[in-house]
Amino acid sequence: MAPLRITVIGTGYLGATHAAAMAELGFEVLGLDVVPEKIEMLAAGRVPMYEPGLEELLAKHVAGLPGSTGRLRFTTSYEEVGAFGDVHFVCVNTPQKHGEYGCDMSYVDSAMASLAPHLTRPVLVVGKSTVPVGSAQRLAEKLVELSPAGDDVELAWNPEFLREGFAVQDTLHPDRIVIGVQGERGEKVLREVYETPMSEGTPLVVTDFPTSELVKTAANSFLATKISFINAMAEVCEAADGDVVKLAEAIGYDERIGAKFLRAGIGFGGGCLPKDIRAFMARAGELGADQALTFLREVDSINMRRRGHMVELAREAVGGSFLGKRVAVLGATFKPDSDDVRDSPALNVAGQIHLQGGQVTVYDPKGMDNARQVFPTLGYADSALAAARGAEVVLHLTEWREFRDLDPAELAGVVTDRLVLDGRNALDPLRWRAAGWTYRAMGRPRA
Ligand code: UDX
Repeated sequence: MAPLRITVIGTGYLGATHAAAMAELGFEVLGLDVVPEKIEMLAAGRVPMYEPGLEELLAKHVAGLPGSTGRLRFTTSYEEVGAFGDVHFVCVNTPQKHGEYGCDMSYVDSAMASLAPHLTRPVLVVGKSTVPVGSAQRLAEKLVELSPAGDDVELAWNPEFLREGFAVQDTLHPDRIVIGVQGERGEKVLREVYETPMSEGTPLVVTDFPTSELVKTAANSFLATKISFINAMAEVCEAADGDVVKLAEAIGYDERIGAKFLRAGIGFGGGCLPKDIRAFMARAGELGADQALTFLREVDSINMRRRGHMVELAREAVGGSFLGKRVAVLGATFKPDSDDVRDSPALNVAGQIHLQGGQVTVYDPKGMDNARQVFPTLGYADSALAAARGAEVVLHLTEWREFRDLDPAELAGVVTDRLVLDGRNALDPLRWRAAGWTYRAMGRPRA
């Protein structure tokens, strides 16, 4: 039997990584995006975003690059994709709708509608995007209706759990593989794709459409809840003069709780957790199950409160008003090892201070271009030291390794006031205090 030929539709964080990973597993892969500039970059082995390890994986497989396997190619043509593929992975994004909680399905809908007319033989279409429960059923019917091959086109749902910054590692070595299927072919084909020596020992959960869609939103809701739980504890610690970092360590030793995702600070952001919990609430409402998820509203508001709280701490630190005050902001991305500033708590805090009259200067190791695009009126500097020059307060808002490695004594030489607020509980208070800084963090005693 000839090896399966795979296509990947949508080449953002998810799709570009999935395409490269499929080539790494030995498949012939064709990636598609509707943005020609992205395709040109990928075809030249360059990644349109910052994702550690992805460029190296592309270099190994993109056709035409010296020494590559040639297994990975890119196109903008659905016709080509339809003619090539036996399995089509749909990896386009599902952002939050403008001005409301629900999920914008227009990219998924249009990818399916563009692909379907080119499906002339039995194939499997696999959705990987995060979608409201019920979407897979609707899309499966649509595909049969719009495809020349009709019933011979089957859909499977296969949610993706990768984290930005670890996309390659998470894709090649996932914790689990979840497959939602209706027919037998879906499971058989996806087992052929995923059951490789590399995935030995990885649990494979086979289930129905709605459960597979819900697994993803449930997982992200749980993670968001865990972060907001520890941030709620941080609020109580502040009121009671307790230390949330010690508290998290102590409860994390209980294996039932676990130490991960208990880092208190300015909260979660990014293209997934915030919009996923909102879309989940909206969908539950449509299904008449809104009461089941009212707690997520609280999870969201605890999270958003953290940003406001950081702004208040900074305002208090500079004497009650930002007017005429210089504020250095270290970090713009929603987390380290990414250039993504979507719904970034760091950029949001910087923006709020700027709008309240502060003179904000931001530095981020990888997120500067994206931050400038989203917030062009902020000040930007090309190093932490330059951002801190003349600052009355330094805010540490994204926990890049570069910031943990800063020399507080060197920074002390350029600021106006040695005052640092750690919004991620990631700097070493002893080092900063030893260099003469007043160090304050969220949910920790003032000392
Ligand atoms: C998340 C999920 O982890 C991933 O499984 C899913 O596929 C997509 O959404 P990602 O958005 O890349 O991944 O980032 P993640 O590492 O989960 O962090 C999300 C946000 O939570 C970041 O802003 C991070 O700073 C924050 N966070 C994380 C905390 O504030 N505290 C923590 O303890 C952990």
